[in-house]
Amino acid sequence: MSDFTELIMSRRSVRKHKEAQIQEESLQAILKTGIYAPNGGNTQMWHFTVLQNQNTLKELNELIKKAFAKNADSDNRFIKGAARVAQSEMYCFCYGAPTLVLVSSDVANPNAMADCACAVENILLAAHAEGIGSVYINAPTWFDDDPEVRALLTKIGVPQNYHVCASAAIGYSDAPPAKGIRNEDVVNYVR
Ligand SMILES: Cc1cc2nc3c(=O)[nH]c(=O)nc-3n(C[C@H](O)[C@H](O)[C@H](O)COP(=O)(O)O)c2cc1C
Repeated sequence: MSDFTELIMSRRSVRKHKEAQIQEESLQAILKTGIYAPNGGNTQMWHFTVLQNQNTLKELNELIKKAFAKNADSDNRFIKGAARVAQSEMYCFCYGAPTLVLVSSDVANPNAMADCACAVENILLAAHAEGIGSVYINAPTWFDDDPEVRALLTKIGVPQNYHVCASAAIGYSDAPPAKGIRNEDVVNYVR
């Protein structure tokens, strides 16, 4: 197995982070891999917001908790399930990670979700290569049209007509490495 394949296979979502901020050099290396991700037509209709201000992260967390409460009866089973967890006083949608990268794209971009997901996958892998834990986060995507959440997103630089399509919470892991569980019986060959 190549080192790169090994890196991909050993990446797991990390949901417990140390408080220490990640090193700037690592952050820049990680972001660069996001910017160099494949994207439809190489239009690069995306924007990366790096949120490292802990007070603003707390503010966003409170607004996301409120948004979950408003959507407790959502038809989306993921939102409905997470809404129950979000009632806890301890709830933090990005698991205490000191850095949140929000990747947004123009609402007019038909490839918005795919482009941003490609960027976030690169970010997760690059973080792992830097010895940093990470997890894909959906809550800002679910709630970026909530008026209070949107106002804060706009304040921190998410462009007005951009939708937050994908996010990554990143920080040094404070959890034992998890095992990857996959059903590998999902392939057919036509040879
Ligand atoms: C589109 C997408 C959305 C996700 N949203 C969340 C999320 O909001 N919160 C979370 O804790 N994990 C989220 N994850 C992480 C998945 O739960 C995780 O990748 C999956 O359980 C497999 O575990 P692994 O990443 O450790 O291999 C998301 C992953 C993807 C691809």
